[in-house]
Amino acid sequence: MAKLTAIILAAGKGTRMKSALPKVLHRVGGSPMVQHVLDAARQAGAERQIVIIGFGADSVREAIGDQAEFVVQAEQLGTGHAVMQAQQLLAAAPGTVMVLCGDTPLLRGELLRNLYQTHRAVGAKATVLTAAMPDPAGYGRVIRGQDGRVLRIVEQKDASPDELAVSEVNTGIYCFETRELLSALAAITPNNRQGEYYLTDVIGILVGQGDKVWALPAEDYRETLGINSRVQLAEAEKILRLRKLRALMENGVTIMDPASTFIDEAVTIAPDTIIYPFTWIEGRSAIGTGSVIGPNTRIENTVIGDNAAVSFTYAHDCRIGSGVTVGPYVHLRPGTVLENGVKVGNFVEIKNTNVGENSKIPHLSYIGDTDMGARVNIGSGTITVNYDGVYKHRTIIEDDAFIGCNTNLVAPVKIGAGAYVGAGSTITKDVPPDALGVARARQANIEGWAKKQRSRR
Ligand code: UD1
Ligand code: CA
Repeated sequence: MAKLTAIILAAGKGTRMKSALPKVLHRVGGSPMVQHVLDAARQAGAERQIVIIGFGADSVREAIGDQAEFVVQAEQLGTGHAVMQAQQLLAAAPGTVMVLCGDTPLLRGELLRNLYQTHRAVGAKATVLTAAMPDPAGYGRVIRGQDGRVLRIVEQKDASPDELAVSEVNTGIYCFETRELLSALAAITPNNRQGEYYLTDVIGILVGQGDKVWALPAEDYRETLGINSRVQLAEAEKILRLRKLRALMENGVTIMDPASTFIDEAVTIAPDTIIYPFTWIEGRSAIGTGSVIGPNTRIENTVIGDNAAVSFTYAHDCRIGSGVTVGPYVHLRPGTVLENGVKVGNFVEIKNTNVGENSKIPHLSYIGDTDMGARVNIGSGTITVNYDGVYKHRTIIEDDAFIGCNTNLVAPVKIGAGAYVGAGSTITKDVPPDALGVARARQANIEGWAKKQRSRR
């Protein structure tokens, strides 16, 4: 098959978003709109992607990086003008070009592949993807002849009342043979109500010169929806979200309440894991089998093993092993690694710390910059004093150590294997293996003192 190139139009400002951010960079399903379009085009077999940028060009270029080539459209004179900017790149690489817009994040690779294959199979010079919109307002209408063949596309603002009654609309997604596209683009003019160079005029020009033009109706119009406002952005978010949840459920994951569960596109979850309500799982997170996540939990860029239970927790950039219990009310900050069988719960914060297998931090602790061995028990209210105001220092707690309640471990400090630390200690010196470290004032009892006080009153 000839090479497929995709051109993604993304130079517009997106006025109706009322935003300083270019429209195509607004996020849905965890990534910018234009990223979804790039992914779908790649899945459809586009080997080369060209993005037309204009408004906010630098930030769009930065967000896309080396996934595509860029062409700047300095002035936005219309969709036809936008494609013309890529003329030189296209002329050098004939074949088929797929034109897309950067604001259709619901597109799937499958639909685009279908468009491309239909275009090739029919042998068309242009194939337009159309949709039956319940509300076609604002879209270009697809005008067909009596024999059903496509004649042209007319924009809403230029359409007659008869043409406005047509519900088959132009989705703004097409395949063209490059040679024919370029010659037709040379013939378009801005003689229309908006004074723009319309890409849609190419269709009528090709039909007029006897070239084969085809239209493929999309099965589900929702997949082709363009996002123009924040209201539509929220609608797209919901569709993408439910699509992801459905895929997970079909794969064996229990989602107790899809309405209150938010899982990004890139997240993977193995079968027989259960997600409780009010849970967010974001970024590059992955969860194994048999785990229970939520309720009220936010997991970001975190890998969780099998048979883990995480509730009422915020974990970001962490790794959580198998059989681990986390929560309720836990904050796991970046760089935290909980090995298999660890227990963390009840108002605990952990940062940049390795916790060895089967160790427990069950209540009211702050553990930061610590390397903890296996089977360690951290008493309630233990604090690692890791920051001297200038530098952070590490705490080392070796295997089988036992830290008594309400202890300060002033780093850098090391608690040896099997050692004990007495409750209420402020530990500033290393405790050797198997020793007891105690650092608190001895208790003194004054007999009869309280009784005497009372009798004075
Ligand atoms: C366009 C189509 C319309 C179709 C609709 C589908 C034309 C003339 N009309 O209308 O038939 O139903 O899409 O959504 O093509 N852009 C540029 N440079 C420009 C102008 C636009 O890059 O000079 C980009 C925009 O950023 C956007 C896309 O092209 O991503 C579509 O532009 P927009 O102005 O939204 O086109 P519509 O009026 O919606
Ligand atoms: Ca427009």
